[in-house]
Amino acid sequence: MGRYDDYKEQVLRMSQKLSDQGYFGTRSGSAGNVSMLVEDEDAVVVTPTRMPYDTMTAGDICVVDFELKPIEGRLKPSIEAPMHVEAYKVRRDVRAVIHTHQRGASAVSLIAEPIPPLFDEVALSIGPLVDLIPYALSGTRELHDMVADKLTNRCHCYVMQNHGALCVGPDLESTFTFVELLEKISSVYVAALATGRPISVLPDPIATNLFEAVKARQDREAARKPRLQKTAASAG
Ligand code: 13P
Repeated sequence: MGRYDDYKEQVLRMSQKLSDQGYFGTRSGSAGNVSMLVEDEDAVVVTPTRMPYDTMTAGDICVVDFELKPIEGRLKPSIEAPMHVEAYKVRRDVRAVIHTHQRGASAVSLIAEPIPPLFDEVALSIGPLVDLIPYALSGTRELHDMVADKLTNRCHCYVMQNHGALCVGPDLESTFTFVELLEKISSVYVAALATGRPISVLPDPIATNLFEAVKARQDREAARKPRLQKTAASAG
């Protein structure tokens, strides 16, 4: 068994689960991308570009270093691989990244405003805010730079204007839950906005306290990643 085989299997299984459940926008296409950080190494295991998930195999998954140089794999990595690498560099608590084209968050991406803190149990998982990453063409340096900038807010979910969503977390399963929570609040928020009535948001002191709990959890995660602490910039 190769050094990265288990990671490749996990990335493949998660990608196919997301695809089967419609989080990539279609069940037969290749949109979206998924990655994991390799433990104790500046290496990222990431889905290949433009390959449908229903025919993807573990052997198709790519491994690249933080300069995007190939370590393993015969296919080209996702065009958003630099965005995934930025997430691992900027956020020491992050070990999994999922980029989706999910419906609810895509609707919010057209309203092009952040989602405010709405529910305490959601804010306790993903942070109080779902910020908006301004539009830039997929796969461009401009987009990846803006992602790196927004990720410093220490939340776990982001809406990408006229594009989709980005979720980051300490492992793939938690990040999948963040994808689900984002979908729940996005669809509920859009439905509430459609009434035309004012939106009730969480009181500021509650949102602030919940965010402190989120940041404390992240600090514990970051402390488990000593090697990268030395090389990567901290989100503070
Ligand atoms: P890739 O197929 O290169 O991963 O691109 C899909 C996508 O969603 C671009 O934003």
